[in-house]
Amino acid sequence: MKDTEVIIPFKIAAYDELSDTDRQLVDLARQATHRSYSPYSHFRVGAAILLDNGEIVTGANQENVAYPSGTCAERTACFYAHATYPQAKFVTIAIAARDTDGNEVTEPIAPCGACRQALLEYETLAGNPVRVILTGATTLYLLPSVRSLLPFAFTEF
Ligand code: THU
Repeated sequence: MKDTEVIIPFKIAAYDELSDTDRQLVDLARQATHRSYSPYSHFRVGAAILLDNGEIVTGANQENVAYPSGTCAERTACFYAHATYPQAKFVTIAIAARDTDGNEVTEPIAPCGACRQALLEYETLAGNPVRVILTGATTLYLLPSVRSLLPFAFTEF
């Protein structure tokens, strides 16, 4: 028997430290929170995905009176991105959220397990790491890949 561990590398950054491209993506994820349809949780999430064709696709969480029928911002964005540009590879996703008071969350939120799995599919298809930017009001986390967010992922059968 041997002890081992999974280490998740990420950077903690301020908005001003980001590249112009990353700042634009964060801006669009923040704006997308305003298009959230979340009458049940009042928790507004936005996502923006940069594709290798230069397009940026955004999404926001879409809730439903039958709660499980709703979808997170990340899956709204990634399904729409791949349905619209099936040949394009994902490059970076930025995620932002506003709490029930309407203020941006102080600490970044991280995608749920289902969204990590869905995003991993497109990272696998892309054949290259998809960077992840988790956005809080003052602090951002930069992860090098979706895979780094989902250790022991199920990727093939
Ligand atoms: N939600 C997202 O859209 N993305 C996440 O990463 C976490 C949660 C949504 C789902 C639901 O509409 C609301 O936030 C509260 O869970």
